[in-house]
Amino acid sequence: MTNALLRVSGLKTVFATRNGPLRAVDNVSLEVERGEILGLVGESGSGKSVTGFSILGLIEEPGRIEAGSILFDGQELAGAPAQVLRRIRGHRIAMIFQDPMMTLNPVLTIRAQMKLAFDAHEGGAKDDFTTRAIEVLTKVGIPDAAHRLDAYPHQFSGGMRQRVAIAIALLHRPDLIIADEPTTALDVSIQAQILTEVRALARETGTALIWISHDLATIAALANRIAVMYAGKIVEQGTTREILRMPRHPYTQGLLNSRPDRFPAKAKLPQIRGSMPSLSNLPRGCAFASRCDRATDLCAMQSPAWQGDTQQGVRCFHPLEPNP
Ligand SMILES: Nc1ncnc2c1ncn2[C@@H]1O[C@H](COP(=O)(O)OP(=O)(O)O)[C@@H](O)[C@H]1O
Ligand SMILES: [Mg+2]
Repeated sequence: MTNALLRVSGLKTVFATRNGPLRAVDNVSLEVERGEILGLVGESGSGKSVTGFSILGLIEEPGRIEAGSILFDGQELAGAPAQVLRRIRGHRIAMIFQDPMMTLNPVLTIRAQMKLAFDAHEGGAKDDFTTRAIEVLTKVGIPDAAHRLDAYPHQFSGGMRQRVAIAIALLHRPDLIIADEPTTALDVSIQAQILTEVRALARETGTALIWISHDLATIAALANRIAVMYAGKIVEQGTTREILRMPRHPYTQGLLNSRPDRFPAKAKLPQIRGSMPSLSNLPRGCAFASRCDRATDLCAMQSPAWQGDTQQGVRCFHPLEPNP
């Protein structure tokens, strides 16, 4: 057994809908070690955000965590009282969203909102507020932070606003940051800068990250390990090196084959045919079967079990053989 900071096992998160229960997260298990960056990748609607929200205790009616365990530094978060979760959120686990305005208040100066976030958790580090605020803003690459503290969010570019949101996440030196597509809305060169800086930051501070993205290229540039999500389940997991060099799930292979950086500019990218089935109307067998070249009758009838451990493995009856 590893000494994981976060150990999620058998997590099931369900939304009650008019068409019956929607299984957004279905039996997800994953582990994150201190200082590690886990990339969670999958197409839109595969359950990535709901996984992040579940870990943070942010699932609300009509949703609920139906089963599973979320052990964070030895403490069970699944079913923990709201006040326990509130204390952990922002203090020991922070979240960064795709839209920085989910974090930032447009009518407050950066200083005012950082102060609110800083004061929200007593018992934390006994830093001087201004010193700490300037320190984290500088860390995320905001020049002249001391002066920028008195600016409002609209005086920053999109990339700079996201940096401020990341700085706020860092204020209390969290053990874990869950970043949900935080660079998706930014242009490519800003994305690359932020990825490089976040990577250095994680290494330097020992903060672990779950970095969520629909884009495998982003994840590949950042993560130590990758978990591939499809229709509410993790279908493959491994080190970034393993996943890139020898993907075993046909879906992972499809994602890799449609990476633009593997093809000359303007070439038509191979796409995975078909689309992900609706989570409220999943087929009986493997949810990828109808899109899969390797599928057999078995795949249509039965859902494949996980083959592997908590660090690496695949959920497929006919995985690709690792080539030596
Ligand atoms: N509040 C909600 N009520 C009902 N269904 C939801 C709710 N939030 C998310 N879902 C459903 O859960 C599934 C997974 O969503 P999500 O985790 O946001 O996907 P991803 O982040 O991978 O794009 C989707 O089918 C989505 O429609
Ligand atoms: Mg999402």
